[in-house]
Order: sequence, then C-alpha cells, then structure tokens
Amino acid sequence: MDDNSSLKEALSATSTAVERVLEPFLALSGGPEDRVIEAMRYSVFSGGKRLRPFLVLASAELFGVDRSQALRVAAAIECVHCYSLIHDDLPAMDDDDLRRGKPTVHIQFDEATAILAGDALQALAYEILASEETHADPYVRVALVKELARASGHHGMVGGQMIDLTAEDHDMDEMFIYRLQQMKTGALISFSAEAGAIMGHASKGARASIQGYARDLGLAFQIADDLLDVEGSEEEVGKAVGKDEDAGKATLVTLMGLERARNQARILSDQAIEHLAGFDDKASLLRAVAHFAINRRA
Ligand code: IPE
Ligand code: IPE
Ligand code: MG
Ligand code: MG
Ligand code: MG
Repeated sequence: MDDNSSLKEALSATSTAVERVLEPFLALSGGPEDRVIEAMRYSVFSGGKRLRPFLVLASAELFGVDRSQALRVAAAIECVHCYSLIHDDLPAMDDDDLRRGKPTVHIQFDEATAILAGDALQALAYEILASEETHADPYVRVALVKELARASGHHGMVGGQMIDLTAEDHDMDEMFIYRLQQMKTGALISFSAEAGAIMGHASKGARASIQGYARDLGLAFQIADDLLDVEGSEEEVGKAVGKDEDAGKATLVTLMGLERARNQARILSDQAIEHLAGFDDKASLLRAVAHFAINRRA
C-alpha cells in the first residue's frame, strides 16, 4: 500500500478510535442539561479529518507510548479543536452557517448553546488529560495540561483568533501573517505532534525535531486552508468558501497571490519533512501527513 492510502486508512481508524474514547464522556444524562451535551456530540461526532488526533497517535508511536493512553490525548485535542471551530463559526466571529457539510452548531441549536458547548468541550479536554488513565506519571499529566493550555490560550489559538479578527490591511506583511497563523492554527497542531514526545519522555533533540516539523506543518496546513477558501468548492470542503476575501482576512493568499502561496506551502511541507531526517520508517506517516496537508481537497 502506498503512503497515501495508508494515511487515509490511518486517519479513518483514528476517527473511529477517538469517537470510542469520547462516547462515554458525552453520554446523555436524562437531565435538562442534555441540550448542551447534544450540541457537544453534534460537533464532535460530525466527521472532520481528525488530523490533530492522528498527529498525537503518530508521534506517540514514534516514542513508544501506549496507544490507549495516546488515544485519550488525541480525544482531548479534538475536543479543543471542536470548541475552537464552534466559536470560530459564531456570528460574532466568522459568522458561518456550514461546517463539515452540516449546519454549524449555533444554527442547529442556538448561539448560547453553541457558546456553552464550546466551553464544555474545552473543560472536557482537561478532565481527560488530568485523569490517571491518561498517564501514570503525574509530571507528564501536568506537562500535557500546561502545554495544551498554553497552545489554546492568549499565546496560542485564542491570541491568533484575536489577531485574525482585528488585523487591518495595513498591518500585514509576511511575518505578521505567519505569526498570526502560527498562533491560531499552528499552536494546536504543534501540541498534537509534541504530545507523543512528552508522553514518551523523548530526548531534547528528538523533541526539537518534532517541534520543527510541527511548526512548518501547521503553517503549510493553514495556507492550504486559505487556498481552499479561494479554490475549493463548498461541496468539497464542507464549509462556505470565498469568505476570507469578503471578510478582508489577512492570509498569505491575499498577500502574495495563489501561485506564490501554493509555492510557499510546498516549501514548508518539504521543510517539515526534512526535520524528520533523524527518524527511520516509523516517521513515514508523519511524512505522508506533510504531503496530505497541502494536497488535500477538504
Ligand atoms: C479547520 O481545521 C480550521 C483550521 C484551523 C484551518 P480542519 O481543516 O482540521 O477541520 P476539520 O477538523 O477537518 O473539520
Ligand atoms: C480557524 O481558521 C482557526 C481556528 C482556530 C478555528 P479559519 O477561520 O480559517 O477556519 P475555517 O476556514 O473557518 O475552518
Ligand atoms: Mg476564523
Ligand atoms: Mg472560520
Ligand atoms: Mg479558513
């Protein structure tokens, strides 16, 4: 099997396994709070590529981490990712009606429920990470909690979302956009790839290689998202397209045009792969992800 079909299979297996971990945490209680649980389930069980969970599993395998423990971390990062998508789609943010080919959470439910579902998914992520079943070593659990908190908060995803919403045309240059994208998208991707290294007590050198890989991958991934917003169809990507330009969003595509942005994504993907030079065949799926990140159609 070539690397691309292995990757497709691995992504689909990741999705099934992560859903199995999340199911018991999201059981309906029979109480009046079930509405928020329904909204959480609607978001989490609605497909998606499961790229971040996959990165956790792939890096965990690289560092010899138990798969069932890694799956819990994979589930936690997907919760934070889904929370970020629910809030990103709100009228006060990107005001989107379609996500993963379905109505967004605030359309399907209502705004207040969407806000609460996002909040609760964020809380659930930390409940999962902090639990003993996730790792026997409490120092590792604290490290996971700390790194995910940092990647999610004002130095990471939330900070990036703030800049994304407030950036004006005159602020933009390449470095500005890279920083914004590193924060809003790269930080959670970096956490995902580093989680295996944290859990597996990886050497400093190996962790630095993974960090370099993830940084370039995250940037390439967001450029591909921005390219799809221009070149993709709503049917393919499962969300509205053409929104970035309408909203005056600062992206590398608006700054440098399609051709150069495409080229930049390719360079970053190649660079990501170069960081893996010290690993053997065990890193082949991580290499395949770097290709997938820029060649995907959704
Ligand atoms: C969308 O992320 C938001 C970005 C950070 C670009 P994904 O493209 O990973 O979304 P899903 O999970 O596959 O729906
Ligand atoms: C979102 O970036 C990044 C998040 C932190 C959710 P976008 O706003 O470009 O993501 P899409 O295109 O709506 O998925
Ligand atoms: Mg956005
Ligand atoms: Mg958006
Ligand atoms: Mg986008």
